[in-house]
Amino acid sequence: NDIEKGTYDHFMLKEIDEQPFVIRRIIQEYEKDGNLHIDPEIIADVKEADRLYIIAAGTSYHAGLIGKQLIENIAGIPVEVHISSEFIYNTPIISKKPLFIFISQSGETADSRAVLVKIKKLGYKSLTITNVEGSTLSREANHTLLIHAGPEIAVASTKAYTAQIAVLSILAYMVNEDNEIDLHHELSLVATVIETLCDRKELMEELARKFLSETRNCFYIGRHIDYYVALEAALKLKEISYIQTEGFAAGELKHGTIALIEKGTPVIAVISQEDINLNTRSNVKEVRSRGANTLVIALDSICAGTDQVVIDDVHPLLTPLVTIVPIQLIAYYAALHRELDIDKPRNLAKSVTVE
Ligand code: G6P
Repeated sequence: NDIEKGTYDHFMLKEIDEQPFVIRRIIQEYEKDGNLHIDPEIIADVKEADRLYIIAAGTSYHAGLIGKQLIENIAGIPVEVHISSEFIYNTPIISKKPLFIFISQSGETADSRAVLVKIKKLGYKSLTITNVEGSTLSREANHTLLIHAGPEIAVASTKAYTAQIAVLSILAYMVNEDNEIDLHHELSLVATVIETLCDRKELMEELARKFLSETRNCFYIGRHIDYYVALEAALKLKEISYIQTEGFAAGELKHGTIALIEKGTPVIAVISQEDINLNTRSNVKEVRSRGANTLVIALDSICAGTDQVVIDDVHPLLTPLVTIVPIQLIAYYAALHRELDIDKPRNLAKSVTVE
């Protein structure tokens, strides 16, 4: 392997730290004459579609859920997000003019490829968003957008997730030229905010020690876009620390799962949106009164004095790019404290080429 860890003990930490650089590189790669730019043929195919079908697995599926929010809010096109291995057998009714978007870090995931083969037979068009130029999903789709994250070696995906979301935001933005976001500026701001979060490793290590060193289980909760972040947060923590973790819609917890809350159960809330702030906080209160150890990750403008992680504000649609960073770091330190093989967790492979 030519890629070096440099001064890092693990690729995962190196890749977390690379995220500001990756976001800036994406801005550069997608810039032409000072403006954001995407191949007009791709934009035309997206605009022509009456519905987009995002197909992906694992972390890329979670990026797809954020992509749905971005595309529906900025571009106004309906989006469905499907897990590859489900779509292939449990295929939904497909709209008249669909466009299929495959999100895959490796571009090699067999479950996703099976869907691509199937939809090509049906005569539908496709776009692959991937980190690997010339990968199978890239070669076999009509179009490709590269995420320019550089090689990702750690099995647990970090920089590819944020890079996928950044590229999806540019795609959404380019489809609707009348949108009022200065995306170039907003993404630069995101890069700066990620940098400040990467500078707070001591805090994240301390939080991992305080909340996760003794526990066998953990919950991430969030509403709206933060719910999707909670799903990725749970995956990150479980895959490298082996702590059984679930991501939940904060309002759904009381409909069953709250039965699992005992004295000392860690519940981590992600709060990035003003309209759900108070509701999620009341869910935090609910679980705390039942003994949970609660930790809140919130954006500055809606934070409370007791929140343990406060993140500088970014555009409301781009918050997943910043809220995930302390979560990645906390997962890293939880696994480090348990002396686990962080870059190569048991039973997992970086790229899964069997269905
Ligand atoms: C594997 C990896 C995950 C990854 C998933 C999808 O299961 O362990 O980290 O998210 O595959 O991979 P892809 O390359 O398609 O994004």
